[in-house]
Amino acid sequence: MADLRFTLRKALHKAGVLHSLRGLRGHRTKRPLFSPADARTPIATLACVDWLHQQGVLEGTDIMEFGIFRGFNMWFTQAYCRAKGISDLRWLGFDSFFGLPKIDGSDASGGFVEGEFSAYREDVEYYFNRFGIDWSRTFLIDGFFSDTLNEKTRARCQIRNCALAIVDCDLYSSTVEVLTFLEGLLAPLAVVYFDDWGDFKSADQGEPRAFREFEDRTRSQFNVVELQLPAGITKGKAFTLRRT
Ligand SMILES: C[S@@+](CC[C@H](N)C(=O)[O-])C[C@H]1O[C@@H](n2cnc3c(N)ncnc32)[C@H](O)[C@@H]1O
Repeated sequence: MADLRFTLRKALHKAGVLHSLRGLRGHRTKRPLFSPADARTPIATLACVDWLHQQGVLEGTDIMEFGIFRGFNMWFTQAYCRAKGISDLRWLGFDSFFGLPKIDGSDASGGFVEGEFSAYREDVEYYFNRFGIDWSRTFLIDGFFSDTLNEKTRARCQIRNCALAIVDCDLYSSTVEVLTFLEGLLAPLAVVYFDDWGDFKSADQGEPRAFREFEDRTRSQFNVVELQLPAGITKGKAFTLRRT
């Protein structure tokens, strides 16, 4: 029964009508909590923001989050930057708003399930409006990365240098797509934070594998150094990438 329901949702999503049908069901009384998928993600993100701000390289850049789920971390980081008086920033949040894509290859043994972390764009927009967001500087890029991480999105959003990339999309396959997209967009000094660094048992899987392959391919372009995050609080790993 659950499988049948998922197959139907998937077909409706593919046809581009899932979200509007949900609206007809009067979901407004049943919104999910406005919360991050993992409570530690915002702490790690703010540590990266602080480091970049101390280096004086944050203003004038775009912050990108790949996998925003309900959007809490994106909203929270923007609110934090506003409170700190960091004004010239833009925010791009990428998500399928249908959860994880089909899982195969080395991702198959990770315990992840297609459709996991499904969130509705409409809920994200609702909470952003309720708690305050600067829409003139905020972009939600809706769709699977294979369809959105491309030149068309880059031109449409007039993407600037990316000083902070939050990679929170769990899978090796998704992370490969993200890093390929980021290669030409990273600022001269940037931080890439991987929230799911330890999610797979082996370093030959998940985000570590995707980043190792990225490093091997771009060794002549970037100096990579690990950025120490608050001990005991975070589960991910962050790296500073300085263009050579
Ligand atoms: C763990 S959740 C993100 C949590 C979020 N950053 C937070 O702090 O609450 C992972 C997200 O990645 C998205 N995702 C993973 N792979 C994707 C892909 N290939 N295309 C689009 N979205 C993807 C899922 O839809 C999901 O919302």
